[in-house]
Amino acid sequence: MKLKEEVNKVIKAAFDKAGIDAEPISVSEATKPEFGDYQFNGAMALSKKLRKNPREIASEIMGHLDFSGIVAKAEIAGPGFINLWLNDTWVAQACEKARADERLGIEKTSNPIKVVVDYSGPNMAKQMHVGHLRSTIIGDTLANLLEFLGDEVIRQNHIGDWGTQFGMLIAYLEERGEDGSGSLKDLEQFYKDAKKRFDEDEAFADKAREYVVKIQSGDEHCLNLWQKFIDISLGHCEEVYDKLCVRLTREDVKAESFYNEDLPEVVADLAKEGRLRESEGAQCVFFEEDEIPVIVQKGDGGYLYATTDLAALRYRANILGAKRISYVVDARQGEHFKQIFKVAKMSGFVPEDVKLEHVAFGTMMDKGGKPFKTRDGGTVKLIDLLDEAVVKAKAAIKEKDDYSEEEVEKLAKTIGIGAVKYADLSINRESNYIFNWDKMLSFEGNTSLYMQYAYARIQSIFRRYGGEIKGDIVITDVLEHRLSVMLLRFEEVLERAAEDAAPNQITTYLYELVTLFMRFYEQNPILKEGVDEATKQSRLALADMTAKTIKQGLDILGIEVVDKL
Ligand code: ARG
Repeated sequence: MKLKEEVNKVIKAAFDKAGIDAEPISVSEATKPEFGDYQFNGAMALSKKLRKNPREIASEIMGHLDFSGIVAKAEIAGPGFINLWLNDTWVAQACEKARADERLGIEKTSNPIKVVVDYSGPNMAKQMHVGHLRSTIIGDTLANLLEFLGDEVIRQNHIGDWGTQFGMLIAYLEERGEDGSGSLKDLEQFYKDAKKRFDEDEAFADKAREYVVKIQSGDEHCLNLWQKFIDISLGHCEEVYDKLCVRLTREDVKAESFYNEDLPEVVADLAKEGRLRESEGAQCVFFEEDEIPVIVQKGDGGYLYATTDLAALRYRANILGAKRISYVVDARQGEHFKQIFKVAKMSGFVPEDVKLEHVAFGTMMDKGGKPFKTRDGGTVKLIDLLDEAVVKAKAAIKEKDDYSEEEVEKLAKTIGIGAVKYADLSINRESNYIFNWDKMLSFEGNTSLYMQYAYARIQSIFRRYGGEIKGDIVITDVLEHRLSVMLLRFEEVLERAAEDAAPNQITTYLYELVTLFMRFYEQNPILKEGVDEATKQSRLALADMTAKTIKQGLDILGIEVVDKL
């Protein structure tokens, strides 16, 4: 349900009747319940054009408002605002209709496009660390959201699988002789050991350098070793994906090496377009005087991260046919993306109408506000962090002791992983993110546990009730009214979140919804004796719609609900 759009239509009709020749600006949600549900603030803007004072214009619009449909009541306030109240019957019926629909009345976009979401992108030479957590979680949510709204989403995992360090790593893998999976369990350690060999042993270092050249020239033996290394390393990442319940698969991997053959073409095409200039032996694209150029080929002929990304951009726009390409990558790469987007557009690699966006996110910090590290200063491994989340979640629910061992195990996974994901998604992604176990595993506040608890509580009402909902929603008080309007706002929240690539808009909405529901439930008992049947049915329906909305919202965030908590 596009609630705002419906209200806007009523305003527009009043404009037409009043003979005001202008497109009214959109209504906005009222900031306080006493201001109604929506507010129209457009009279002020028209004042100059119509040469009338805003209150006069507002009262003209008021005089032509249609009160027979969605809008029940309106009031002029302040210098010329119009506060609008929605009609209870209209809202109740719309809610009822949405509840009966699998998609909660949320239509798929009438204009679907292909969207590439580039996320996760771990480097194969290193352990996946907490920095990749944010990309993986935010990216997966964005992909789920766009998919739900009807776009054709192509997930792309741009893994770092190419570069000179692989010569050293595969030389070491070969030296170790075994199948590699054991010693590669801890990639950080493996890297350190390989580096030590490289620094200590001249013969080993020569071999490593020789292997770099060999991989690059397509030597079969070296490529096989390299492939094996990547397979094992990617396997570790997949373990993490699995734990995180993200929907990335091997089919979504388009590694840096995938673009290797296209790199000389990228440089040649840029040269053909007259975009390249040599600077200290390197091939560069220059912009305005004071802007740093992009190097696309080094003096020794080697290519760079930016060259690969240019190749990836044109593949995505021209071969995959994407109309929106979203890069969910650390904010510190902001300059890189700004530059390659610019080069891609000005050289015609990517058509003008393709939207390129860097969905930037901040750094993960510890409680003290320092970059997240282990106690001895090392990088925190993602897998350890997720295992810890499950252990902590177990402790949190063990206090409620009527669970079997098996139930606890399953619940702890859902809750622990959900908490880590929700905490990350619920803040403005561009801010640095302070990782705090106690906060994320709390039953209170804007947390996944709060949502899961509310959902479980509603399920327990249904278990106690035992029957089917037979009646319709009838709004009898202001909390029921506000809850219903809130439920109907879901579609607009999702659309806006998709547009802004901002998962925290969804969590903020869920938090408001659940808080409102808790208040409603406190004041409006459902199964208590003395509640008449029609009221009971209506409240059951509202609770049901709330639960369905929580479930759908969490599903987009990649978090599961539980029936009992
Ligand atoms: N591997 C990169 C890193 O860890 C992230 C890749 C992001 N995607 C891209 N197309 N550049 O920093």
